[in-house]
Amino acid sequence: MFLAAVPEGLRTVFDGRVLRAGVASPYEILGVDPEADEAEIVDAYRERVKETHPDQGGSTEAFLAVKTAFERIENGWEPGDAVPEHDVPGGMDAGTVEADEPTEEPPEPEGVKVEYLNYEVMADRLWELTDDDLFEKAADGGLPGEDYGELYVRENESLLEAAERQGYAWPFACRGGACTNCAVAVVEGEMPSPSSHILPKELHDRGIRLSCIVAPETDARIVYNVKHLPAVQDLLLPASRFEASSSTD
Ligand code: FES
Repeated sequence: MFLAAVPEGLRTVFDGRVLRAGVASPYEILGVDPEADEAEIVDAYRERVKETHPDQGGSTEAFLAVKTAFERIENGWEPGDAVPEHDVPGGMDAGTVEADEPTEEPPEPEGVKVEYLNYEVMADRLWELTDDDLFEKAADGGLPGEDYGELYVRENESLLEAAERQGYAWPFACRGGACTNCAVAVVEGEMPSPSSHILPKELHDRGIRLSCIVAPETDARIVYNVKHLPAVQDLLLPASRFEASSSTD
């Protein structure tokens, strides 16, 4: 089902083939026409992210290939430019990416800054959401980027979309505020919810938000993956209820 849905350019990723110059352009990987406008490219990117998300039966390699393709287009890749030979499943470690990137100073990130931490890491270390120094401990903890770091949420993006654009595979299922699989805990900052969501007032007052339908109004600190918190777990709808985007986690 999944392979049939993805564009030809991505199948080379799933078949484990190297994407060498001239084989799969960033546009092919996203499945959009090179003449596509920005909105079409963003829409295609979001679709590919959903299809390749590890929670949806995809692979980390495919997910990273989609992210890299989107970043290349955003950074001005044009049809006819070479596709770097290191655009390889499993080969996009930090060293490889650095070799492909221009050496100038990176542009200032656009959007509102969010410092994030993975709840599973906290559980392993017996850290609590109420710890005053939670994020200081995380900063000093030598954690990998998928567990702790910063991301930026642009205008008209949800927190979940921003995380995906920046290459993070956070949990989700319905993407519409109905299942709580995407729940996060806001430790600092303002992140109001729209009027329609399923969280009880008590949880909302404790800072729980649904990352698929919220965005920060100020710089913020959040813990993602809090669907494993007992009070949130009680509200979880099985991901299998959401046909087109089901989480297996
Ligand atoms: S993904 Fe279902 S509430 Fe956000």
